[in-house]
Formats: sequence, C-alpha cells, structure tokens
Amino acid sequence: MKALTTQTQLFAVFGYPLGHTVSPPMHNLAFDKLSMDCLYLPVEVSGEDLGTVFKGLSKMNVRGINVTIPHKIAIMEFLDELDPIAENIGAVNTILLDNGKSKGFNTDGIGFIQSLEEETGVCVENKKIFIIGSGGAARAIAMTLAHKGADQIYISNRTAEKAIALTTEINKKIRQCADPVPMETEKQREAIGECNILINTTSIGMHPEIDAMPIDESLIRGEMLVSDIVYNPRETKLLKTAKEKGCQTVGGLGMLLYQGVEAFKLWTGVTPPVEAMREKIEALMQAK
Ligand code: ATR
Repeated sequence: MKALTTQTQLFAVFGYPLGHTVSPPMHNLAFDKLSMDCLYLPVEVSGEDLGTVFKGLSKMNVRGINVTIPHKIAIMEFLDELDPIAENIGAVNTILLDNGKSKGFNTDGIGFIQSLEEETGVCVENKKIFIIGSGGAARAIAMTLAHKGADQIYISNRTAEKAIALTTEINKKIRQCADPVPMETEKQREAIGECNILINTTSIGMHPEIDAMPIDESLIRGEMLVSDIVYNPRETKLLKTAKEKGCQTVGGLGMLLYQGVEAFKLWTGVTPPVEAMREKIEALMQAK
C-alpha cells in the first residue's frame, strides 16, 4: 500500500452496483507507473445519496470522478458546468474538479473514436457510418462522431422511434448529417452498402448469446471497417464474420480503455501508459 498524505490527489468512480469495475485498477496502475501521488477509489453510491456523496467528496482533495450506470444523467444537476459534447449527449461519465468548480465531460464517444482510430489507422472524419442501436452508448458515439466531422451517420434500431429521435436531435443540435433507417428493409441494405464503417452498439452477441448477430451477415462487405462495443466475448460473431470477409475489425475493449485514457488526460494533462492499462484490463477480464 502506498503512503498517503494530505497532498495525495484523490479520484473515484461512482456507480450502483459497481461490481468488478476495471477503472480503479486501470487508473491506479497508471498513477503508479508515472510515480504520481494519486489514488483512485471505487465508490458504490445509490441514487438517493448521489448528491450528498458528490458534495462531500468535492470538499476533499478530489481532482476527478468517473460516473457510471445508473448515475450518468442524474449527476448533471450537481455540476457547475458542462462540456458541449456532454451537454449534447445529455450524460456525463467524467468530472473535473478544479478550484472549487466542477465540470462534466463525456469521454465515452471520444474514447470509442480514439480506440477505432488508434487500432485501425482509419480516421472517422468524412466517413459514412452506420450505427445499430439507439441507447446510451449509441447516443455518446453518434453525437461525438457528428462533432468530429463524420460525413453521414445512419442509425437503425429495433425500436424505430428511438433512432428517429436520436437522428433528429443530432441534426438539430450539431449539424445535418444523420438519418434514421428502418431495420431489415431495402433502405437498410442500401445505406449499409454505402458505408465505410459499421458499428454495433447493442448488446446483441454478448455472452451468453454468443451466436446472435445484430444484422444479416450478407450485408457485410470486405471493404467496411466493422466495430462492436461488446467486449465479452472479445471477438463477437459479428467481428468473426466480418474478419472472415476481409474487413478490418475493432472490439469493444478499446472503448473501455480509451474512455479512461481520455479522462486521465483531462484530469492530469498527462498521457497515461496506454498499453500497460490495456494489459491490466485484459488480465482482469480473463480472471473473471
Ligand atoms: P447502453 O447504455 O449500453 O447503450 P441501453 O441504453 O439499454 O444500453 O441500449 C441498448 C440498445 O441495444 C438499444 O438500442 C436496444 O434497442 P431498443 O431501443 O429497441 O431497446 C438495443 N438492444 C438490446 N437488446 C436487443 C435485442 N435483443 N435486439 C435488438 N436490439 C437490442
């Protein structure tokens, strides 16, 4: 156990339940590697106590907080300021505490993009992108892609109204670049046919339903980059099928890693040891 002092900068993740969150070991490893006098704590907090715990911690030597399910929306009412991307997404996963002021960010979408760009060398700017799903993760990814200059964003969802609502919001709040596409239609086939990048943001294919696919496999073309935010299993049926067709693929672990990397940079101004953090997450996943 490292020596803690009144100078030790504190960090935390809020969630309920927190279970085996990888954030504390991932960030603590980075702090150790960089010999930083910092400590990251898991804080399991209920919705009822969220405000009280946040206000209490903000009076301590706390520099940064991550927020996970189910508090990403509820935490916003306690913050002094919001970054425009977090405001558009309507959810916060990272808080910076600076000079008594709190500012909320959302690094889920930027973490996803970083992971995709780092792992494939493909840049999202000016690309045509097809997203399956319209939940919280899809919102963060789609809004951030619109901010980062994607040319066109198509969104399909089982509940079509949610895809319509999300695309309407992107077009209104950021810029005109998003269109809803009904599932399993000719329009969907055409839209996927035009796309450079396909992203699954649903839980389809997640353990134990490992043979499930979010779209018909005939829609996957070898020229596309295919990304799946599911990381258990590491290679989903979608990614395996895409790889067999010659596609570049990206798994979901990188989004988890890079949302943390981006938070670390916001809090400290320092780039953390990304590969060591990746190895740590992989080891923790394997131990589960
Ligand atoms: P997250 O925060 O991980 O994005 P979420 O907000 O619950 O989770 O969103 C889950 C997404 O996966 C939604 O788009 C959901 O579709 P609905 O909006 O129709 O519920 C999608 N999803 C989950 N299970 C699905 C399934 N079996 N078939 C199709 N879509 C599914």
